[in-house]
Amino acid sequence: MAVKLKSPDEVVRMRKAGQLVGQTLARIREMVRPGLNCKDVERFVHEEYKRYGAKETFKNYQPHPRYPPYPSNICISINEQLVHGIPTDRILQEGDIVTFDLGATLDGYVGDSAITVPVGAITPEAQRLLDVTEKSLWAGIGAARAGGHLNDICGAIEDAILPHKMGIVRGYGGHGIGREMHEEPHVQNHRMRFRGTPLRPGLVLALEPMVTLGNPETEEEDDGWTVRTKDRSLCCHFEHTVAIREGHEAEVLTLP
Ligand code: MF3
Ligand code: CO
Repeated sequence: MAVKLKSPDEVVRMRKAGQLVGQTLARIREMVRPGLNCKDVERFVHEEYKRYGAKETFKNYQPHPRYPPYPSNICISINEQLVHGIPTDRILQEGDIVTFDLGATLDGYVGDSAITVPVGAITPEAQRLLDVTEKSLWAGIGAARAGGHLNDICGAIEDAILPHKMGIVRGYGGHGIGREMHEEPHVQNHRMRFRGTPLRPGLVLALEPMVTLGNPETEEEDDGWTVRTKDRSLCCHFEHTVAIREGHEAEVLTLP
Protein backbone atom coordinates (compact mmCIF):
# COMPACT_ATOMS: atom_id res chain seq x y z
CA MET A 1 0.00 0.00 0.00
CA ALA A 2 1.24 3.49 -0.86
CA VAL A 3 1.05 6.84 0.91
CA LYS A 4 -2.03 8.81 -0.21
CA LEU A 5 -1.53 12.59 -0.38
CA LYS A 6 -4.70 14.63 0.20
CA SER A 7 -5.90 17.51 -1.99
CA PRO A 8 -6.66 20.87 -0.31
CA ASP A 9 -10.37 20.01 -0.60
CA GLU A 10 -9.83 16.71 1.19
CA VAL A 11 -7.89 18.51 3.96
CA VAL A 12 -10.92 20.80 4.43
CA ARG A 13 -13.12 17.75 4.97
CA MET A 14 -10.58 16.16 7.29
CA ARG A 15 -10.53 19.38 9.32
CA LYS A 16 -14.30 19.07 9.85
CA ALA A 17 -13.99 15.47 11.07
CA GLY A 18 -10.99 16.46 13.20
CA GLN A 19 -12.76 19.44 14.78
CA LEU A 20 -15.66 17.24 15.83
CA VAL A 21 -13.22 14.86 17.54
CA GLY A 22 -11.36 17.76 19.21
CA GLN A 23 -14.56 19.40 20.39
CA THR A 24 -15.99 16.12 21.73
CA LEU A 25 -12.75 15.38 23.63
CA ALA A 26 -12.81 18.92 25.10
CA ARG A 27 -16.34 18.26 26.38
CA ILE A 28 -15.25 14.91 27.81
CA ARG A 29 -12.35 16.61 29.61
CA GLU A 30 -14.90 18.90 31.27
CA MET A 31 -17.02 15.90 32.34
CA VAL A 32 -14.11 14.14 34.07
CA ARG A 33 -14.34 14.04 37.90
CA PRO A 34 -14.24 11.35 40.59
CA GLY A 35 -17.52 9.40 40.29
CA LEU A 36 -17.86 9.60 36.49
CA ASN A 37 -19.09 6.34 34.93
CA CYS A 38 -17.11 5.43 31.79
CA LYS A 39 -20.28 4.21 30.05
CA ASP A 40 -21.70 7.75 30.34
CA VAL A 41 -18.82 8.97 28.16
CA GLU A 42 -19.66 6.37 25.50
CA ARG A 43 -23.33 7.48 25.57
CA PHE A 44 -22.26 11.13 25.29
CA VAL A 45 -20.19 10.41 22.16
CA HIS A 46 -23.11 8.50 20.63
CA GLU A 47 -25.50 11.46 21.15
CA GLU A 48 -23.00 14.05 19.92
CA TYR A 49 -22.24 12.12 16.72
CA LYS A 50 -25.97 11.68 16.04
CA ARG A 51 -26.40 15.48 16.16
CA TYR A 52 -23.60 15.98 13.61
CA GLY A 53 -24.37 12.99 11.39
CA ALA A 54 -20.92 11.54 12.09
CA LYS A 55 -20.03 7.87 12.01
CA GLU A 56 -18.43 6.21 15.04
CA THR A 57 -15.15 5.18 13.41
CA PHE A 58 -14.02 2.81 16.17
CA LYS A 59 -17.35 0.91 16.53
CA ASN A 60 -16.94 -2.61 15.10
CA TYR A 61 -13.43 -1.79 13.83
CA GLN A 62 -11.53 -5.01 13.10
CA PRO A 63 -7.87 -4.50 12.18
CA HIS A 64 -7.28 -8.25 11.79
CA PRO A 65 -9.51 -11.37 11.86
CA ARG A 66 -7.64 -12.35 15.06
CA TYR A 67 -9.34 -9.45 16.89
CA PRO A 68 -12.99 -9.38 17.91
CA PRO A 69 -14.69 -6.28 16.38
CA TYR A 70 -14.07 -3.29 18.68
CA PRO A 71 -17.30 -2.94 20.71
CA SER A 72 -17.39 0.81 21.45
CA ASN A 73 -17.13 4.26 19.88
CA ILE A 74 -14.23 5.32 22.15
CA CYS A 75 -11.21 3.80 23.88
CA ILE A 76 -10.95 4.57 27.62
CA SER A 77 -7.68 3.39 29.17
CA ILE A 78 -7.07 3.89 32.90
CA ASN A 79 -3.71 4.10 34.75
CA GLU A 80 -1.62 1.03 33.67
CA GLN A 81 -3.87 0.61 30.62
CA LEU A 82 -2.11 2.16 27.62
CA VAL A 83 -4.52 1.99 24.67
CA HIS A 84 -7.66 0.26 23.36
CA GLY A 85 -9.42 0.08 26.76
CA ILE A 86 -13.08 -0.89 26.33
CA PRO A 87 -15.50 1.34 28.30
CA THR A 88 -17.24 -0.46 31.21
CA ASP A 89 -19.31 0.73 34.20
CA ARG A 90 -16.04 1.43 36.03
CA ILE A 91 -16.23 4.61 38.10
CA LEU A 92 -13.31 7.04 37.86
CA GLN A 93 -11.47 7.62 41.15
CA GLU A 94 -9.49 10.57 42.45
CA GLY A 95 -5.85 10.10 41.37
CA ASP A 96 -6.59 8.10 38.19
CA ILE A 97 -5.14 9.18 34.85
CA VAL A 98 -7.46 8.33 31.98
CA THR A 99 -6.86 8.27 28.24
CA PHE A 100 -9.79 9.01 25.95
CA ASP A 101 -8.99 8.02 22.36
CA LEU A 102 -11.65 9.03 19.85
CA GLY A 103 -12.25 8.83 16.11
CA ALA A 104 -15.00 10.29 13.92
CA THR A 105 -15.84 9.78 10.26
CA LEU A 106 -17.57 12.78 8.67
CA ASP A 107 -18.23 13.17 4.96
CA GLY A 108 -16.06 10.08 4.34
CA TYR A 109 -12.93 11.28 6.17
CA VAL A 110 -11.54 10.29 9.55
CA GLY A 111 -10.23 12.35 12.47
CA ASP A 112 -8.36 10.63 15.32
CA SER A 113 -7.15 12.15 18.60
CA ALA A 114 -6.44 11.16 22.20
CA ILE A 115 -5.95 12.98 25.50
CA THR A 116 -4.89 11.75 28.94
CA VAL A 117 -6.75 13.52 31.72
CA PRO A 118 -6.14 13.61 35.50
CA VAL A 119 -9.07 12.73 37.77
CA GLY A 120 -8.99 15.22 40.66
CA ALA A 121 -5.58 15.48 42.32
CA ILE A 122 -2.84 13.20 40.95
CA THR A 123 0.75 12.57 42.09
CA PRO A 124 3.53 14.92 40.86
CA GLU A 125 5.07 11.89 39.08
CA ALA A 126 1.85 11.23 37.17
CA GLN A 127 1.60 14.91 36.26
CA ARG A 128 5.16 14.83 34.91
CA LEU A 129 4.25 11.82 32.77
CA LEU A 130 1.31 13.72 31.29
CA ASP A 131 3.44 16.82 30.65
CA VAL A 132 6.31 14.91 29.01
CA THR A 133 3.99 12.88 26.76
CA GLU A 134 1.99 15.91 25.59
CA LYS A 135 5.19 17.90 24.98
CA SER A 136 6.61 15.04 22.92
CA LEU A 137 3.49 15.14 20.73
CA TRP A 138 4.03 18.87 20.13
CA ALA A 139 7.71 18.25 19.40
CA GLY A 140 6.60 15.77 16.73
CA ILE A 141 4.14 18.28 15.31
CA GLY A 142 6.88 20.93 15.23
CA ALA A 143 9.08 18.59 13.19
CA ALA A 144 6.29 17.78 10.72
CA ARG A 145 7.40 20.17 7.96
CA ALA A 146 7.35 19.86 4.19
CA GLY A 147 10.81 19.07 2.85
CA GLY A 148 11.73 16.81 5.75
CA HIS A 149 11.22 13.10 6.24
CA LEU A 150 9.18 10.92 8.56
CA ASN A 151 12.21 10.18 10.73
CA ASP A 152 12.41 13.89 11.67
CA ILE A 153 9.10 13.42 13.48
CA CYS A 154 10.11 10.09 15.07
CA GLY A 155 13.41 11.58 16.29
CA ALA A 156 11.78 14.74 17.68
CA ILE A 157 9.30 12.66 19.70
CA GLU A 158 12.08 10.40 21.02
CA ASP A 159 14.34 13.35 21.91
CA ALA A 160 11.53 15.01 23.89
CA ILE A 161 11.06 11.89 26.05
CA LEU A 162 14.58 10.44 26.53
CA PRO A 163 16.02 13.10 28.92
CA HIS A 164 13.14 12.40 31.34
CA LYS A 165 14.11 8.72 31.73
CA MET A 166 10.63 7.53 30.90
CA GLY A 167 9.77 4.48 28.77
CA ILE A 168 8.94 4.84 25.07
CA VAL A 169 6.47 2.18 23.93
CA ARG A 170 7.48 0.21 20.83
CA GLY A 171 5.13 -1.76 18.63
CA TYR A 172 2.37 0.86 18.70
CA GLY A 173 2.48 4.25 17.05
CA GLY A 174 0.93 6.75 14.70
CA HIS A 175 -0.24 6.29 11.13
CA GLY A 176 -1.34 7.89 7.92
CA ILE A 177 -5.05 8.73 7.95
CA GLY A 178 -7.70 9.78 5.44
CA ARG A 179 -10.68 7.83 4.13
CA GLU A 180 -9.33 5.01 6.29
CA MET A 181 -8.32 5.40 9.92
CA HIS A 182 -5.10 3.49 9.31
CA GLU A 183 -3.19 4.31 6.14
CA GLU A 184 0.50 4.24 5.26
CA PRO A 185 2.97 5.12 6.73
CA HIS A 186 3.31 3.70 10.24
CA VAL A 187 4.84 6.35 12.57
CA GLN A 188 7.16 5.01 15.27
CA ASN A 189 7.73 7.10 18.39
CA HIS A 190 11.48 6.56 18.20
CA ARG A 191 14.16 7.07 15.54
CA MET A 192 14.29 4.65 12.60
CA ARG A 193 17.42 3.55 10.72
CA PHE A 194 16.31 5.40 7.58
CA ARG A 195 14.80 8.77 6.70
CA GLY A 196 11.42 7.30 5.82
CA THR A 197 8.55 8.82 3.83
CA PRO A 198 9.22 12.33 2.49
CA LEU A 199 7.01 14.92 4.21
CA ARG A 200 5.01 16.53 1.39
CA PRO A 201 2.05 18.96 1.50
CA GLY A 202 -1.13 16.88 1.71
CA LEU A 203 0.38 14.10 3.79
CA VAL A 204 -1.93 13.65 6.79
CA LEU A 205 -0.67 11.77 9.83
CA ALA A 206 -1.97 10.79 13.25
CA LEU A 207 0.93 11.28 15.69
CA GLU A 208 0.52 9.45 18.98
CA PRO A 209 3.39 9.10 21.46
CA MET A 210 2.89 6.54 24.26
CA VAL A 211 5.07 6.90 27.35
CA THR A 212 5.43 4.88 30.57
CA LEU A 213 6.80 5.70 34.04
CA GLY A 214 8.28 2.19 34.27
CA ASN A 215 9.24 -0.50 31.76
CA PRO A 216 7.65 0.16 28.35
CA GLU A 217 6.84 -3.50 27.63
CA THR A 218 3.14 -4.14 27.12
CA GLU A 219 0.70 -7.06 27.17
CA GLU A 220 -2.92 -7.59 26.14
CA GLU A 221 -5.70 -8.07 28.68
CA ASP A 222 -8.12 -11.02 28.42
CA ASP A 223 -10.74 -8.97 26.57
CA GLY A 224 -8.51 -9.23 23.48
CA TRP A 225 -8.21 -5.44 23.12
CA THR A 226 -6.97 -3.58 26.18
CA VAL A 227 -3.19 -3.06 26.16
CA ARG A 228 -1.49 -2.48 29.53
CA THR A 229 2.09 -2.20 30.79
CA LYS A 230 3.52 -5.57 31.87
CA ASP A 231 4.87 -4.07 35.10
CA ARG A 232 1.52 -2.21 35.59
CA SER A 233 3.32 1.12 35.72
CA LEU A 234 1.39 4.27 34.80
CA CYS A 235 1.35 5.19 31.13
CA CYS A 236 0.14 8.00 28.94
CA HIS A 237 -0.98 8.67 25.36
CA PHE A 238 -1.71 11.87 23.44
CA GLU A 239 -2.69 12.00 19.77
CA HIS A 240 -3.46 14.59 17.09
CA THR A 241 -4.24 14.30 13.39
CA VAL A 242 -2.00 16.76 11.49
CA ALA A 243 -1.67 17.83 7.85
CA ILE A 244 1.71 18.69 6.31
CA ARG A 245 1.58 22.03 4.45
CA GLU A 246 4.00 24.13 2.43
CA GLY A 247 6.22 26.59 4.31
CA HIS A 248 4.69 26.19 7.78
CA GLU A 249 4.62 23.62 10.50
CA ALA A 250 1.83 21.04 10.18
CA GLU A 251 -1.77 22.10 10.69
CA VAL A 252 -3.38 20.34 13.66
CA LEU A 253 -6.77 19.13 12.38
CA THR A 254 -8.11 17.80 15.71
CA LEU A 255 -8.22 21.05 17.72
CA PRO A 256 -11.72 21.88 19.12
N1 MF3 B 1 -6.96 5.78 17.76
C1 MF3 B 1 -6.47 4.47 17.83
C2 MF3 B 1 -5.49 4.17 16.73
O1 MF3 B 1 -4.94 5.05 16.21
C3 MF3 B 1 -7.42 3.45 18.27
C4 MF3 B 1 -8.24 2.75 17.30
S1 MF3 B 1 -8.54 1.16 17.79
C5 MF3 B 1 -10.20 0.91 17.71
O2 MF3 B 1 -5.18 3.07 16.38
F1 MF3 B 1 -10.42 -0.30 17.62
F2 MF3 B 1 -10.76 1.43 18.76
F3 MF3 B 1 -10.70 1.47 16.67
CO1 CO C 1 -4.54 6.75 15.93
